Amino acid sequence: MAEAQIQYSTDKATAYRELVAEVGAVVKGETSRTARYATTVSLLVSAFGGRFFWCGFYEVDPLKPNELVVGPYQGTLGCLRIAFGKGVCGACAAARETIVVPDVHAFPGHIACDSRSNSEIVVPVFDASGELVAVLDVDSTEFGAFDEADRAGLEAVCKAMLG
Ligand code: SME
Repeated sequence: MAEAQIQYSTDKATAYRELVAEVGAVVKGETSRTARYATTVSLLVSAFGGRFFWCGFYEVDPLKPNELVVGPYQGTLGCLRIAFGKGVCGACAAARETIVVPDVHAFPGHIACDSRSNSEIVVPVFDASGELVAVLDVDSTEFGAFDEADRAGLEAVCKAMLG
């Protein structure tokens, strides 16, 4: 039902504001976290299309609290598990802060799941009690694809997703 989806503004900050409202409305009352993650990935990729070459969540494994395990995503095959501190996702999980990487080849320990990825942003996801539950990883084939508008926008989307 692509024709039923909203047309996002071309201005990035405005598009993120629209997304925050849409994510919040669509997942309202949903008890499954997986449903919230999968829906958010779908809406992000619908809004930003090819700019988001890989978009998905790595969840903190409740059985191995220092390890991330892949969750809902869209894109080519991603690695299944990432230890805290490894790669950009693991660095984000360890630091509990968003990391913007303009050139992944210059990031020490970057995990190259797909050699076509050239830049990425990884955002921590916190539950209502402030505990880290996942990270959102977005990769682009362009260098320097992500900026402060993406950081603010994706952090707001993640908040609305679990809000
Ligand atoms: N780029 C990530 C690895 C995961 S994928 O690219 C899907 C990283 O270095 O954390």
